[in-house]
Amino acid sequence: MTKIAFVGFGGVGQALAEILLERKVHLESSYGLEAEVVAVSDMMKGAVYQPDGLDIEQLLEAVRETGNVENYPDGPGVTKGLDSMATIQQSNADMIVEVTFTDVETGQPAIDHCRAAFEKGKSVVTTNKGPVALAYEELSKLAEKNGAYWGFEGTVMSGTPALRMPVATLAGNEIKEIKGILNGTTNYILTEMEKGNSYETALQKAKELGYAEADPTNDVEGYDARYKAAILSGYLMGTPISSKDIPCKGISDMTLEMVNDALEQNKKWRLLAQVKKENGTVTASVEPQLLDTDDPLAGVTGATNAILYECDLAGPIMLTGAGAGLKETGFSLLIDLIDYQRQKTMEKI
Ligand code: HSE
Repeated sequence: MTKIAFVGFGGVGQALAEILLERKVHLESSYGLEAEVVAVSDMMKGAVYQPDGLDIEQLLEAVRETGNVENYPDGPGVTKGLDSMATIQQSNADMIVEVTFTDVETGQPAIDHCRAAFEKGKSVVTTNKGPVALAYEELSKLAEKNGAYWGFEGTVMSGTPALRMPVATLAGNEIKEIKGILNGTTNYILTEMEKGNSYETALQKAKELGYAEADPTNDVEGYDARYKAAILSGYLMGTPISSKDIPCKGISDMTLEMVNDALEQNKKWRLLAQVKKENGTVTASVEPQLLDTDDPLAGVTGATNAILYECDLAGPIMLTGAGAGLKETGFSLLIDLIDYQRQKTMEKI
């Protein structure tokens, strides 16, 4: 049995809770994943804890109908109002689903949440980029030292397995270069501009469609892609690079004229995050690049993401799919939970 505490319970957390509810029988029979939600703690939506397991249907009903999980029915063993740290440290959860709203500049409070969990020997799955981009080395060592699992598949390309796919199935290759369209908002804007829409109109549409971050500066200036490049560098290339050391240029000064000029030359602008290994040294960058229209990355349109791994044995391999979305990001947490379960099972063999 895996006892789960949600730290943060916004759309992504709720999407995972729904998946756990809907697929309960399948997850147990196919993967041996018996997940029980014991706690939720959210700064805005309150907190509820029941060590024997909360009823997920009632939990979702409370949050969706009243905006507050503390409207979950009272009963024996039910405690309300625990803050995130108390939930991590004092609840009987052995798996923390960390999906708080995090300040991407500092990575907080998610970094402290991961640290507190690992120090208690508890595992973490998260979609927060901050802890992985800013504290990968420290946190991965801490998790390992305490026998805890740390999953963060959703930090790059949400439920599209940009992290685990290369580790699991491209093993044996040397990956010399990774480049990708890792931000949906900017790719959507560039594609809309190719249809003749202005930058401002395209950004407004991206906001309305929910692609852009709360502060779209992170998208359009390339900071979101820069965090993802830092994660790829640390996790896939074995070289942690601080995101602040990654040269970064966004698309905020891109004009319709530039986009049209490119099209006239059979080219397209794409905001690319790139991580390269040359003579044992890993470097990373984020910048708009002009690609030939027949380049596979130029063919990626709208908010879709794509990543290309240059492998020495297998050649170039490209993976494309969603880079955001509630269900997709909820699914990324599920992949991590299934992987955690598989690792637990294997240790028993
Ligand atoms: N705002 C991000 C994007 C969401 O547009 O891709 C996922 O990090």
